[in-house]
Amino acid sequence: MAANSPSTAATLALIADDMQEVDKVIASRLQSAVPLVGEVARYIISAGGKRLRPALLLLMSGALGYTGSQRFNLAAVVEFIHTATLLHDDVVDESTLRRGRPTANENFGNPASVLVGDFLYTRAFQMMVETSSLRVMEILAEATNVIAEGEVQQLMNTHDASLSESGYLNVIRSKTAKLFEASARLAAVLAASPPEIEHACASYGQALGTAFQVIDDVLDYDGNAHEMGKNLGDDLREGKVTLPLIIAMQRGNTQEQALLRSIIETGSTDELSSVISIIKKTGALDATRQAAATQAQLAMDAAAQLPINPHSKGLLQLAAQLLERRT
Ligand code: IPE
Ligand code: IPE
Ligand code: MG
Ligand code: MG
Repeated sequence: MAANSPSTAATLALIADDMQEVDKVIASRLQSAVPLVGEVARYIISAGGKRLRPALLLLMSGALGYTGSQRFNLAAVVEFIHTATLLHDDVVDESTLRRGRPTANENFGNPASVLVGDFLYTRAFQMMVETSSLRVMEILAEATNVIAEGEVQQLMNTHDASLSESGYLNVIRSKTAKLFEASARLAAVLAASPPEIEHACASYGQALGTAFQVIDDVLDYDGNAHEMGKNLGDDLREGKVTLPLIIAMQRGNTQEQALLRSIIETGSTDELSSVISIIKKTGALDATRQAAATQAQLAMDAAAQLPINPHSKGLLQLAAQLLERRT
């Protein structure tokens, strides 16, 4: 975090005790009679991660006054689903670094990563069934399905130099924002909140998750691999067309557009430095950060509809803080 940026530490301190309970649930539900399951799952989960989706569910529960223990189980469920998507995503993206360590696919191979990802998804399903709430199951089944759909849509969009901003936004709403939306909505369901509050929670989660992914896509060009714990430049190498590239395509001159187009279509990283210089020269990173700020503002507008208390203030701050994140 930059020195003058607001810190997430104070926000997350509100739920530090709750998060310890979530960690206990996570540890106890990773158990399996098959040693490799626990080994791979613990490898990625003990590497940490920001635990943002559980944090969102816990902060939202606090904002709505829900204090039941079901929040710990569902926070663990959303982290399991998230971790499963990462295990699969790193195989698909052929990524080698995650959370500052070699990815699970790098360490254990693709088959173990895919299969343990399946274990985590299905463990999450077992845990959601234990809630006996059809509404909880509906929200999580839909979220998991939409995430998968988003990843497939993104696969279809690779190397497409004509991808529009709205095509990009559709993908990130599905692959990333949907789980944030579900996490926030689940808190409203646990709290038995009225429909307009549930709607505000869902809108907050969707906008926050969208801002989060837009910033992630900036950091892939402009971040620090050590801080991020994952490699930079991966998006271009994978032929993944994200907002910095879309804006640079719109703003570049004819020659720059032709160069970007050919690099997107071939996925060659030999010219990564020319891509970065076009992205910087056209102001595409600032414009992308501005798009994230617009989403963060939508999140804050939604949070303003919640009861006023330290947790809802934390949610307001979180939206601003995510814009400044470097990790
Ligand atoms: C990584 O999510 C995948 C994206 C949506 C960009 P996080 O950045 O939340 O990953 P961890 O859990 O903190 O490692
Ligand atoms: C994250 O997408 C995967 C999901 C949200 C399912 P990315 O591929 O963009 O994220 P990183 O860069 O690997 O973390
Ligand atoms: Mg990836
Ligand atoms: Mg990425």
